[in-house]
Amino acid sequence: MATLEVQGVGKSFGGYTALEDIGLSLDAGSIMGVIGPNGAGKSTLINIISGFLKPDTGTVKINGKDITGKAPYRVFKSGIARTFQDSQVFGYMTGLENVMVSAPWGIGVQEYNVLARPFAVAREEKQKREEAMAHLAQVNITDKARSMAQALSYGQQKLLEFARMLNSRANVFLLDEPMAGIHPDLVDGLKALIVAMAKEHNKAVILVEHNLKVVMEMSDYVTVIRNSVLLSGTPDAVSKDERLAGAFLGVTDATA
Ligand SMILES: Nc1ncnc2c1ncn2[C@@H]1O[C@H](COP(=O)(O)OP(=O)(O)O)[C@@H](O)[C@H]1O
Ligand SMILES: [Mg+2]
Repeated sequence: MATLEVQGVGKSFGGYTALEDIGLSLDAGSIMGVIGPNGAGKSTLINIISGFLKPDTGTVKINGKDITGKAPYRVFKSGIARTFQDSQVFGYMTGLENVMVSAPWGIGVQEYNVLARPFAVAREEKQKREEAMAHLAQVNITDKARSMAQALSYGQQKLLEFARMLNSRANVFLLDEPMAGIHPDLVDGLKALIVAMAKEHNKAVILVEHNLKVVMEMSDYVTVIRNSVLLSGTPDAVSKDERLAGAFLGVTDATA
C-alpha cells in the first residue's frame, strides 16, 4: 500500500477543466517531482491533496485511508503537511509562534491542565519551544523567532512555513515551489534539507518545482502534468522522453 495514492482526480473551475484523471502514488522515503507549465494544475493538485479544494472526481488516500474532500485540518491530522506557493503565515504572530502552531498536541492543549498541572504544562511548553527553535535553525531563521511574521521578507516567510511543516508530525510533505523567492545563498541548504527529510526521516515528498534541472536532480520519480498526466517515470527516463519538450510547448515560462 502506497503512503500517498491519488487516483482519477479531476477538477473544473466553471467550464475550465484544470485537472483530469490525475493519478500518482508515492512511498515513504521518496521524492516525487511534479512539473508542468504555468497553469498546468500543479497547485490545484496540491490544494486537492491537502483538503483546500474538493475534487470533482477521484480519490486521495494516505496509508490506504480515504481522505478525499476532508477539511484541511483533518488532512493535516492524518499526516499530510504542506507549504504554499505564496507563503501563508500568521502575520501577527512571531516566527516562533508560527512554528509552534503545527504541534497541537500534548497536555497543554486542554485548558484545565494549565490550572491542574501547571508545572507539567510549563515543561511541555519549554520542550515545544526548543523543538520549534531547532526547526527555525534548520532553515536558518532563528534570528526571526521573536519577529512578527508580517515583518519578514517573502523568502523568509516561505522558510518560516517550511519550519512549521518540519515541526509537525506529518509523514507526507507537499511542497509547492519551495525554492521560489528564497535567497540564493540558502537554496542549496534547502534542497539538501528536502532530500534529508525523504532519505533520513523517511518522509514522502511531493515537490512542485519550476526548475526542471532541480527537479531532475532531487526526485526519485517525476510526473509531468498539463491538466492530465502526460508522462511519469524516473528522472532519467522522463528527461530522455521527447514528450517532455511537448509538455512545455506553446508556453514561454519554462526554465529548463
Ligand atoms: N480557485 C480557482 N478558480 C478559478 N480558476 C482557478 C482556480 N484555481 C486555479 N484556477 C485555474 O486553474 C488552472 C491551473 O492553475 P494552477 O493549479 O494554479 O496551475 P499551476 O500551479 O500549475 O501553475 C489555471 O488556469 C488557473 O487559472
Ligand atoms: Mg502553482
